[in-house]
Amino acid sequence: MRVTFEVNGEPVTADDVWPGESLLYVLRERLGLPGSKNACEQGECGSCTVYLDGVTACACLVAAGQCAGRSVRTVEGLAEAGPDGERRLAAVQEAFVEAGAVQCGFCTPGLLVQADDLLERTARAGRGVPGDPEIREALAGNLCRCTGYEKILDAVRLAAAREAGTTEGGAA
Ligand code: FES
Ligand code: FES
Repeated sequence: MRVTFEVNGEPVTADDVWPGESLLYVLRERLGLPGSKNACEQGECGSCTVYLDGVTACACLVAAGQCAGRSVRTVEGLAEAGPDGERRLAAVQEAFVEAGAVQCGFCTPGLLVQADDLLERTARAGRGVPGDPEIREALAGNLCRCTGYEKILDAVRLAAAREAGTTEGGAA
């Protein structure tokens, strides 16, 4: 079947999609977007997290056919164009680099999307920097095989503090 939807603001069409094919497969293998990672394919690790109509979802659990007419944003779409037209890393991406939150990097794309969602929800609600329990809960579905969670938490605190315009949450 043919599936037409939007990815990172652009209309895309995937042909010859079979009924059980996942959104993750279509993104990686048909659309050339390998940022979302394929690890468990069971919704357990969060490596494949994307936005689907503005809500985070595991792309491995979403049938591509369900995405017809919908909007997907992947880790490749987090960076946005600045006033000069140059694409810039999202706050959370910069913070991951600065805090040294990337080890092998396999979990990083999913964590970035999930952390970006936390920051967006926090900003929309007009709240300040999320506390550690909220950060940990938001990232609870994202597993890091390298297990270095402290730097990841540092990065999210740093990005959240910058977004909130405070100096809290500096990286260790
Ligand atoms: S690959 Fe989708 S949750 Fe693990
Ligand atoms: S950095 Fe290696 S899996 Fe998380």
